[in-house]
Amino acid sequence: MIHPADVAPDGLFGHGALHRPGRAGAADEAPGLPPSDVPLSLAHLVGLGRSSEVFRHGRGHVLKLYRAPGRPPAVVTEFRAARLAHALGLPVPRAVAILESEGRTGILFERLHGGTMLDACRRRPLATLTELGRLARLQHAINACEGPSLPDQREALRLQVEGARVPGAVRRAAIAALARLPGGLRLCHGDLHPENVICAPNGPHVIDWQKATSGDPAADVARTALLLRYGRIDLGRLARRLPIDAGRAALAWFYVECRRELGGPGREEVAAWRLPLLVARLYGQPAANEAEVLAAAERLASRT
Ligand SMILES: Nc1ncnc2c1ncn2[C@@H]1O[C@H](COP(=O)(O)OP(=O)(O)O)[C@@H](O)[C@H]1O
Ligand SMILES: [Mg+2]
Repeated sequence: MIHPADVAPDGLFGHGALHRPGRAGAADEAPGLPPSDVPLSLAHLVGLGRSSEVFRHGRGHVLKLYRAPGRPPAVVTEFRAARLAHALGLPVPRAVAILESEGRTGILFERLHGGTMLDACRRRPLATLTELGRLARLQHAINACEGPSLPDQREALRLQVEGARVPGAVRRAAIAALARLPGGLRLCHGDLHPENVICAPNGPHVIDWQKATSGDPAADVARTALLLRYGRIDLGRLARRLPIDAGRAALAWFYVECRRELGGPGREEVAAWRLPLLVARLYGQPAANEAEVLAAAERLASRT
């Protein structure tokens, strides 16, 4: 059962939106509204992410329920960023309200229909490069916007670098690299990869804005390239046909090239973010390829 969360004037925590769309989270909506009767059962599950379970919610919505108990700060970032991106006219499902359910927090989103871009790559491996071109155009459109109200990119990275599982020398090199990198006010998604794009009938839509920041587009490009190179996403037969390392490195290279051709940041600007981003990847939940990422970070750190 979903219980109403407390309501804040900025519309962040609300419940009324379910019943009265025009009044989502209005300040006069007192807590204690009737709970939604939409059950969160396996039959309603439409997606599983690393940080959430996503349930069908009524006819036109889904509830993205975070796995972590309580109200992780990422929920607020995701809600704010998705609202901002949608208001800017980017292809993003509308975020309606933040809800609570049995001690967990979720966001009510407009429901999209379609598989992910990753599904499309797996189904048609030879179309992977075309899909990456589409991903680059989406990111280019996102980075063309400003996102001043979101968390600061360098500050968010610095916190992750400080908590990362790396030797002191690597951490110091990453912090020093970060200090030399430019700030910025552009809207950055922070986790753009083919699994975070839904190919709806009216075109690809970007989901999962919890790592969104205000910052430098070069960092956003570098992060996507890094996810293509080291992320857990399995791009299917295309990446498997080539030797894995070379194949994934080639896809990452191709992606940066796509962004460059669209007028995005140059290779050196992108490469400058690699060390702090690699180190930041060694923060939080450990990945299966942690040793590989650490080795890459150590190599880069030793060159600085
Ligand atoms: N607005 C939506 N409409 C339909 N399905 C969605 C929507 N948002 C997420 N999903 C489904 O849930 C999955 C996980 O969502 P995501 O936001 O990426 O969660 P996580 O942050 O846990 O990775 C997606 O791959 C997709 O299948
Ligand atoms: Mg996701």
